[in-house]
Amino acid sequence: MKDYIRYPHVEGVASRQAHADLPKGSYEREMGKEGFFGPASFFYHRHPPTGWTSFEGPLRPHAFDLNRIARGPASPWEAPVLLGNAHCQLRYWEPGGAMDHLVRNADGDQLLFVHRGAAELYCDFGHLAVTAGDYLVLPRGTMWRLDGVADLALLAIEACNATFMLPDKGLLGPHALFDPAMLDVPKMDEAFRAQQGEGEWRVRIKCRGQVSTATFPFNPLDATGWHGDLAACRINVRDFRPVMSHRYHLPPSAHTTFVTPRFVVCTFVPRPFETDPGAIKIPFFHNNDDYDEVIFYHAGDFFSRDNIRPGMVTYHPAGFTHGPHPKALQRMLVQSKPATDEVAVMVDCRDPLEIGAAASAVEWGGYVDSWKGGGA
Ligand SMILES: [Fe+2]
Repeated sequence: MKDYIRYPHVEGVASRQAHADLPKGSYEREMGKEGFFGPASFFYHRHPPTGWTSFEGPLRPHAFDLNRIARGPASPWEAPVLLGNAHCQLRYWEPGGAMDHLVRNADGDQLLFVHRGAAELYCDFGHLAVTAGDYLVLPRGTMWRLDGVADLALLAIEACNATFMLPDKGLLGPHALFDPAMLDVPKMDEAFRAQQGEGEWRVRIKCRGQVSTATFPFNPLDATGWHGDLAACRINVRDFRPVMSHRYHLPPSAHTTFVTPRFVVCTFVPRPFETDPGAIKIPFFHNNDDYDEVIFYHAGDFFSRDNIRPGMVTYHPAGFTHGPHPKALQRMLVQSKPATDEVAVMVDCRDPLEIGAAASAVEWGGYVDSWKGGGA
């Protein structure tokens, strides 16, 4: 038996409920364990917790503009790793041309998020058309390629030595956020059969970070059929039905889409803001105490961030206090809009991430100063 040391307590001038009825003019900051699942306390500050006049040292937030990354190679294994650790690898991939080979990831499950463009997926399980806003889960070992990749841009998230799973929806029930029946599986259709043949094909297999190549005198995507309960699958963010409350600002974890043992993927999709006068309408300040936090901005207006546009990534290492940017905070205090139209992918990692050279090359160096000016 074990349990957290918990001692709910209210001290001084404070709200008794998280994210609601803040003392007048105060700024709420959360300090907590295990993301938003463990014990936590909420401080009601007189000044914005990001109101520093300077910030020195290695604990720095980062922002990367992936729009500045040149169109890349035909293989995802040559796409640059932006951020990574032993459990998670994030790559950004704009194929420079059609894939003339198959690939297979022997290191872990692959999650592709289609940021822009469209393509035809051919894989062990059949054929599937993919388009912007799609998540595509490719189980470890799947042979695949993408065809017709005009203007395609992907965020590739690898669960190293692990499996992408769906989160426990708890009180919401298993059909919340999106019904698992919305997960599309490839079909062994006419297009799949048409790409089979006796020509030479290479399969580039990534294992332990190194690539090996198997060459076949035929296309190894030659199955006539399959059965089982493991498959590639696809869901589009348009099919998400997010939960929200008019009286309670839900934490980011309410938008969890996929989970692995050492990181989670959350998706922020368009949703109305809270309407209760006492409920906060903006993300609360917090320290990110246990998780490195990465957000990829896909579409819309990112309501808690200034100067961030689609195709950018922010990276807040664990321990870095953050919250709404000053202009975003100001906008929200006057509540000028009834809803957010943002679409963003968040990857929260339990272990520290390393920044790759390709990300460093497109870093916006002034990001750390973007909270300057008090945050209000
Ligand atoms: Fe955060």
